[in-house]
Amino acid sequence: MIKKQTPDTIQVSDIINREEIKSLLMDKDPATLNDLCEQALHAKREFAGDKVYLRGLVEISNVCRKNCFYCGIRRHNTHINRYLLDKKEVLDAAQFAHENNFGSLVIQSGERTDKEFIRYIDELLREIHQITNNSLGITLSLGEQSPETYARWFASGAHRYLLRIETSNEQLYYKLHPKDSAHSFKNRLKALESIKKTGFQTGTGVMIGLPFQTPENLVDDLLFFRDFGVDMVGMGPYVEHSDTPMYNYRHLLPGEKERFELTLKMIALLRIMMPYINIASTTALETLSENGRLLALQSGANVFMPNLTPDIKNKDYFLYDGKPVIKGNIMAYLENFNKELNKSDQKIGFGEKGNSRQYMPVEFIG
Ligand code: 5AD
Ligand code: SF4
Repeated sequence: MIKKQTPDTIQVSDIINREEIKSLLMDKDPATLNDLCEQALHAKREFAGDKVYLRGLVEISNVCRKNCFYCGIRRHNTHINRYLLDKKEVLDAAQFAHENNFGSLVIQSGERTDKEFIRYIDELLREIHQITNNSLGITLSLGEQSPETYARWFASGAHRYLLRIETSNEQLYYKLHPKDSAHSFKNRLKALESIKKTGFQTGTGVMIGLPFQTPENLVDDLLFFRDFGVDMVGMGPYVEHSDTPMYNYRHLLPGEKERFELTLKMIALLRIMMPYINIASTTALETLSENGRLLALQSGANVFMPNLTPDIKNKDYFLYDGKPVIKGNIMAYLENFNKELNKSDQKIGFGEKGNSRQYMPVEFIG
């Protein structure tokens, strides 16, 4: 059992032991989960602050050159309409985020490495900054790219880059991906290192509750984040998608409640191990549990990403089945969400970029 600690005594060394992390992950006692989440919330407020930062999420395209076995927008899925948002659609979303004081934007898409796409992103970055007076933090989540492309996008004004390693275990990685040059574990690691070297606030993450995944794999994921020295993490439960090869293994999955609770524990443990980083409360959490994202924010996560993708396109960006969509007025939703956060002495950081404190000395945080 983890020692009772006050927030200012929580130290990495208290929880560094591999066996201890594993036994906490596997412990089915609801009191353990509660305890862990409570301590993580304390650590979050103490070290990462009482704010929950917003990022307006724009899924600019579902065109992808890859074929990850678990993902609904994989290249070989012919059951979806492929789209690319035009400039106006992206700039409108950026303008909305700016006018409503979101502070940051995430631009996400399937992976494309062609020249036209690289140039399009470059132009978008410059124009978003132009129309918003450089006031938005921008995160890119556009997959594996060359060091030159990362450098080019960094120079055009992207501040952060998110590339999930998906799993830190090479054998498991190849159970989730075809074994070919487009899906190389070593290249993915290299890309993540290249992102860090470029100067981005660097984010990664994994899926939790995958077929074939062991508790040891999850412990290794947490240690990987720490040893790599990531600035931000976005991890969520694996959710099956019926148009993917991985769907055939759904009988191997832990139940939804178990996957959800395992994800909460991973978030809580990571917050205690890396108290200064940004941790996203991911959309997939909401699929497995009502109020899932709020619960994660009460368990150590500190980033919330409302979806700003135009409605019609959002439907074609289903990575997994049952993706939640905020219906109605998003600002009314956030006002209500803020009230819920207040109950755990937290609030939405409107107008703040919410940079990772891991990346920046505390005095430079904007
Ligand atoms: N369930 C959960 N997460 C998924 N992703 C892709 N497919 C799924 C799924 N079926 C995640 C991957 C990817 C991110 C964009 O979405 O981790 O990196
Ligand atoms: Fe493409 Fe990413 Fe889906 Fe893999 S997980 S198929 S790279 S969008």
